[in-house]
Amino acid sequence: MPWRLEIVQDEEALGKAAARIIAEQVRAQPDSVLALPTGRTPLCVYRELTTMDQRGELDLRRVRFFHLDEFYPMAMDSPASFQAFLWREFLSQVSIDRANVHFLNGLAEDTTAECRRYEERIVAVGGLDLVVLGIGVNGHIAFNEPGSPVDSRTRLVTLCRESRAASAYLFASAEEVPHQGLTMGIGTIMEGQRILLIAVGERKARAVSQSLGHSLTPSLPASFLRQHPDLTVILDQEAASLLKKI
Ligand code: GLP
Repeated sequence: MPWRLEIVQDEEALGKAAARIIAEQVRAQPDSVLALPTGRTPLCVYRELTTMDQRGELDLRRVRFFHLDEFYPMAMDSPASFQAFLWREFLSQVSIDRANVHFLNGLAEDTTAECRRYEERIVAVGGLDLVVLGIGVNGHIAFNEPGSPVDSRTRLVTLCRESRAASAYLFASAEEVPHQGLTMGIGTIMEGQRILLIAVGERKARAVSQSLGHSLTPSLPASFLRQHPDLTVILDQEAASLLKKI
């Protein structure tokens, strides 16, 4: 198994383990380029990083941040946007330089141009150093739904029913969840120097065991990550509960 697997007791331990890896990256390279996810899973990581920042144990001021994905269409100031989520749950709590934060514009009229702009921006800062990812219940990463090609780039995609249902908590009703999203592609993600995949809870156990234990297949986008030369997977006991001996 060329990738590393760490199984921890619970969500709190996962937050600490993932934050430790991110902090090590930032201490080694203070202007690191990080790609960050939204979702309930990374909240424990953001809490831990915030604590480290407030205690003066971590300096994020030179770090460059890229968001993985966004709903489309979506106003950036809507509380349901991923952009608002990341500011609310993390970026506004820590000392960073706002000029170092990059988002996909969920209201871009020309989505092809917007996605090209994002890819060019990533290249302009020297590429992604560490990509932090959650996993969808259907094995998606960012908004790369089942069927996404391994070499896909940042683009407009159609969201699956499961993914829309899983995001309903951000909206007043499930019907309000947009049907599309903008997302870094699997190819974009795979070009990152390091990848950290995190999953918590029984809800993710099936997607985790299939993505890590079965063959590489576009029907499980997360399975492609196993081809990456520097992948770390951190799971809590529940998310790891269906993993057979790998
Ligand atoms: C959304 C996001 C993903 C995230 C996934 C899981 O679909 N686009 O980046 O990994 O949700 O979210 P959660 O952590 O809430 O299960």
